[in-house]
Order: sequence, then C-alpha cells, then structure tokens
Amino acid sequence: MEQKKIIVGATGASGLPLLLECLKLIRAAEGFSSALMMTHGAELTLKHEMAMERADAAELADEIFAIDEIGAGPASGSYRAVGMLVVPCSMKTLAGIYCGYADNLLLRSADVMLKEKRPLVLAVRESPLSPIHLRNMQELALLPTVHIVPPMLVFYNKPKSLEEMMQQIAARLLAPFGLMAEEYRPWQGL
Ligand SMILES: Cc1cc2nc3c(=O)[nH]c(=O)nc-3n(C[C@H](O)[C@H](O)[C@H](O)COP(=O)(O)O)c2cc1C
Repeated sequence: MEQKKIIVGATGASGLPLLLECLKLIRAAEGFSSALMMTHGAELTLKHEMAMERADAAELADEIFAIDEIGAGPASGSYRAVGMLVVPCSMKTLAGIYCGYADNLLLRSADVMLKEKRPLVLAVRESPLSPIHLRNMQELALLPTVHIVPPMLVFYNKPKSLEEMMQQIAARLLAPFGLMAEEYRPWQGL
C-alpha cells in the first residue's frame, strides 16, 4: 500500500515540541509518512526550546529536505504528497504564504499546495496578533483547502500533563489529513 506522505514544515515560531509530537504521531500511524523541512529559524528555536539539533528532529521523519533545496521534489506539484502541515508557523512564513513569496523550499511547497488545492494546515503562533497577522490569516482562511489551526490549550478533555495536552494539539493538527491518532480525544458532547 502506498504511504500517504505529509510534508511537515517547521519555522522559527515558538512550539517546536509540537513539531516533534506531530512527527511521532505520523510515524505511529499506519499508512502515513512524513517529509520534513525546517527553516533556519526553526533550527535556532529547536535548539533554544529543546536543546536539540536538526538531526535529532530528522530521526523522527521519514525524509528530510534542506530549506535551500529549491529544486527538490516538494517544489513541484508532481511530488506525491497528500498535503502539508506547518508546525509551528511563524508570522513571517504566514506572510510569505499569503503573498506567494516562495523564496525557500517550505514556502514553495506551501505555494504548491495552494495551486494544487491540497490541504495546507497552518499551526500559526504569535501573541498578541497584529492587524497584519490577522489579515493574512483571514485571507488564507477563505481558501477552502487552508486550515488555520493555532495550537490552543485544550482543557475540556482534562489533560493530566503538558505532554498529554501537546499530544491532543498535535492530533488535532493531523486530523485534516484523515490521520486520526488513537490518542485523539475530540469533543464528544456533555
Ligand atoms: C525563541 C524564539 C521564539 C519565537 N517565537 C515566535 C513566535 O511565536 N511567532 C513568530 O511569528 N515568531 C517568533 N519568533 C521569531 C521568528 O523566529 C522570526 O520572525 C523568524 O525570522 C521566522 O523565520 P522563519 O519563518 O523563516 O522561520 C521567535 C524567535 C525566537 C528566537
């Protein structure tokens, strides 16, 4: 059976532990694989938040591309990926996606998702948000294939630890690709 490949982009916003959580859930899910690309900002933030290097994140991915590798497969619509997740997504990368300013492989891959009308999930992270951030999110949210999914804290499923909460946030980010992690506990009603 052909694996459903999800392109996973990481940027220099806070939240690199969520990237690792998403990669772990993809690896654990039958029939899915990941192709990772990290901006230079993501590498810096990974080091700061997790004391980890790009190579450590790469171990959790099935494939990895360099951010400057603009001739790599994901730069083309013929690359077989079911969609793309950007986690975390900085306001700079959000702006690049909105403007079609595809000057690195992550931005180009997101641009390809838009033109091919494949799911693009953006785990946008900034606080507070400026009118420019909100404008960029609103414009992208109007496109039917784009999901703006800020990694929000969730309390209604009564997480017992930060790790559990992160797992729920990561699982929610993957649901638009049809990847329903076993651990996912969506709202079931009162
Ligand atoms: C520790 C740290 C945390 C940051 N957190 C955020 C954030 O939450 N949101 C954001 O938009 N930028 C954040 N930044 C700034 C981005 O890393 C910066 O704008 C960078 O140029 C983004 O580039 P990239 O999207 O190519 O990774 C943070 C920077 C550092 C060093």
